[in-house]
Amino acid sequence: MFEDDPAIDAVLIAAPQKVEHYEIASYGTICAWADQMGHSDAFDLFKQNLQEGKAADEKLTTIAESAANPEGEEKGSSIGNQNHESFSI
Ligand SMILES: [Fe+2]
Repeated sequence: MFEDDPAIDAVLIAAPQKVEHYEIASYGTICAWADQMGHSDAFDLFKQNLQEGKAADEKLTTIAESAANPEGEEKGSSIGNQNHESFSI
């Protein structure tokens, strides 16, 4: 019924992207805690996980904007860019 609907692809990308955002927030927090407590080995590992989460998020955004919903990219690319440019940890 919905197998050819691009909205389904968009939803299937949005769900794991929400997980990545949760990971980014969590690893960003524990990076700060590890840094504040002087646990440099833990900080390095958490920072690596944080970077992996960001990379996965960027890949999902690229897929969402280019493959899954090209019309959405044309209409909403400035919104997507604003979200990513303003987000730094
Ligand atoms: Fe992840």
